[in-house]
Amino acid sequence: MNSEFSSSEAKTLTVLGIETSCDETAAAVVRCAENSEILSNVVRSQIDEHTEFGGVVPEIAARAHIEVLDQIVAEAMSEAHCDWSTIDAVAATAGPGLIGGVIVGLMTAKAIAKAANKPLIAVNHLEGHALTARLTDNVDFPFLLLLVSGGHSQFLLVKNVGEYERLGTTIDDAIGEAFDKTAKLLGLPYPGGPAVERHARKGDVTRFKLPRPLLDRPGLDMSFAGLKTALRTQAQKLEPVDDQTICDLCAAFQRAVADVLAARTRTALTLFKERYQDTKPTIVVAGGVAANQEIRSALTGAAEEADARFVAPPMNLCTDNAVMIAWAGIEHMRLGPVDDMDVAPRPRWPLDSTSAGVLGAGRKGAKV
Ligand code: KG4
Ligand code: ZN
Repeated sequence: MNSEFSSSEAKTLTVLGIETSCDETAAAVVRCAENSEILSNVVRSQIDEHTEFGGVVPEIAARAHIEVLDQIVAEAMSEAHCDWSTIDAVAATAGPGLIGGVIVGLMTAKAIAKAANKPLIAVNHLEGHALTARLTDNVDFPFLLLLVSGGHSQFLLVKNVGEYERLGTTIDDAIGEAFDKTAKLLGLPYPGGPAVERHARKGDVTRFKLPRPLLDRPGLDMSFAGLKTALRTQAQKLEPVDDQTICDLCAAFQRAVADVLAARTRTALTLFKERYQDTKPTIVVAGGVAANQEIRSALTGAAEEADARFVAPPMNLCTDNAVMIAWAGIEHMRLGPVDDMDVAPRPRWPLDSTSAGVLGAGRKGAKV
């Protein structure tokens, strides 16, 4: 994994990253010199702890982070063959997310930074997602980011480190959340996204008609709650639903989401071209929903039509991980000294301070 910098920026930096804002406990070490290298990437998913509840339970998540974080950090350091003397800084997610988990990660990072006498970098989780493609695919500023996960659904214009403009967001459910709720109401297991995709493959996409919410309105905002309700209404009419009906409903739901995302992506690319007439647009997709093949091909198609570059970082760096947090820390350090020791954990922390406020807390944390 390489990312080249100009020689003036080529100072070696080795950063330990820590991520605990949702249901992954993660630690990683990333080194940046002339090229950048992921020295370790340890992720422990809590899916087993949350499965029986059909979603992430904040209190259980926080406790699970406490139990394993020390061990995960030790593993990341040992896999990277690093000791504290070879680390230049500790970066940790300071928000947005489930506050119990964020507190665990940030306080652990502060303790390590204090004990090892290293600077602490407080990273916005969304910024971690936003900057990953610069590590994995050498993407230059400015570019578009579509973040589609269980807690977030938004289009961001990434102008520079620390300069982000939110172009559009969901006005209700995050996309992953809509997949999870749809799966639950059809009796499919958690997490719902992969289960819906598996069933959709066997479904007849023409049998049910579902709406394409908000597409009759300009702009880049999205809505997914109505889609889920429309699906429930169709399912209730046919109760008890048989296996084929479940597959057909999944196919209709997935196609509707893919259509909405493709349409909004086309609009985002048009907007980008108007703003940056001499720059070939790049659209980066991140978040767990990016694993969905139908959504991916809809986005690839929209990018191709607009002659734009489409970038999807490797799946293990698209979902929550600590490499992205270490990398965001490096990006900040390259701009000058950072000392965030007195930063407080934040459940809500929009990347774009000028955009409208967040929508409240969802099952997977703050919706932004
Ligand atoms: O980024 P992520 O791992 O965690 C956070 O939400 O932060 O995303 C998890 C979300 C879940 O809602 C899950 O159902 C969804 O991503 N997801 C998918 C697929 N794989 C995971 N959604 C649709 N299709 C998939 N194949
Ligand atoms: Zn995330």
